[in-house]
Amino acid sequence: MQTPRKASARAGSNIAFLKYWGNRDDSLNLPNNSSLSLTLDALQTVTSVEFSPNLPADEVIIDGQEASPAAYSRVTAHLDFLRSLAKTDFFARVGSRNNFPLGVGLAASASGFAALTVAATKALGLEIEKRRLTRLARRGSGSAARSILGGYVEWLAGSGDEDSYAREIFPKEHWELLDIIAIVSTSAKEISSQDGHRLAATSPFYPMRLQSLPQNLSKMKEAIERQDLETLGPLIENEALSMHSIMMTSKPPLLYWQPATLAVLREIPEWRKGGIEGYFTLDAGPNVHVLTLPQQANEIRSRLEKLPGVQQVLVAQPGEGAKIVAEHLF
Ligand code: PMV
Repeated sequence: MQTPRKASARAGSNIAFLKYWGNRDDSLNLPNNSSLSLTLDALQTVTSVEFSPNLPADEVIIDGQEASPAAYSRVTAHLDFLRSLAKTDFFARVGSRNNFPLGVGLAASASGFAALTVAATKALGLEIEKRRLTRLARRGSGSAARSILGGYVEWLAGSGDEDSYAREIFPKEHWELLDIIAIVSTSAKEISSQDGHRLAATSPFYPMRLQSLPQNLSKMKEAIERQDLETLGPLIENEALSMHSIMMTSKPPLLYWQPATLAVLREIPEWRKGGIEGYFTLDAGPNVHVLTLPQQANEIRSRLEKLPGVQQVLVAQPGEGAKIVAEHLF
């Protein structure tokens, strides 16, 4: 690298319809199964990165505060990997801002590592095509591979580093599904998904789950193609409960739900009986995502806001992929 360079990027989080849970290689984040998600516009991370010969170490500021030791070492490990591609040993200043709460299962690591990968590779002067960018982001956090791209995205499990990448299966304009997110807790989770992936195989039900996924994935893709929420919705709910049953039966068990989580999960099917078509899913956290169509979004939002234990409701539309932005955070 000739001159110190600075770049900034923005990326949206994503909500998985078919979940990534468990790796066959933890250091490369090679997953045990392919996964499918929708990139979200409203939950964003903006990250600025500047490499400089004058820094004695990496500096990482997230939402105005010095990164925790765990976050710092994840970020610097990813920077080390990217530095090795650019053959430089310059340290970096990293500033990152999220417009949503961190560590509560809203996939901040997806948008965070997607934005970091795009900003840092640009700042290092590396020209990298999209498919490879998804593989690089995957190393930071598996689900970040999917946040490099917009719309409906599949991350292929592949057989190794080369063919475990994400690809857009439908653009965001294909179908305007909305994600109405009920925040029931904003405290940071005790077990990160990084640690959770290691526990997946300790559940006796994990092999059964893996066996059922390829068929569910094709059914979901067909339903998205047909814009058929009545078919997609039950598949998505079933899939979220399948992943959480693996979590709950791991050793030690992982129970991400709060009482208000269950209260929301019980309401959604009741609302459907009255013609309000929404379907729930959850990632590694207590907050509930409700997928619906624009005509029902306001009704679902106001019903969620009235439920006890729901602190805040966010509404997200299909979003675009990670991209370079002109404004820097510092
Ligand atoms: O990318 P990670 O290591 O934060 O894993 C994400 C795991 C889930 O959000 C639970 C599922 C998914 O596919 O996003």
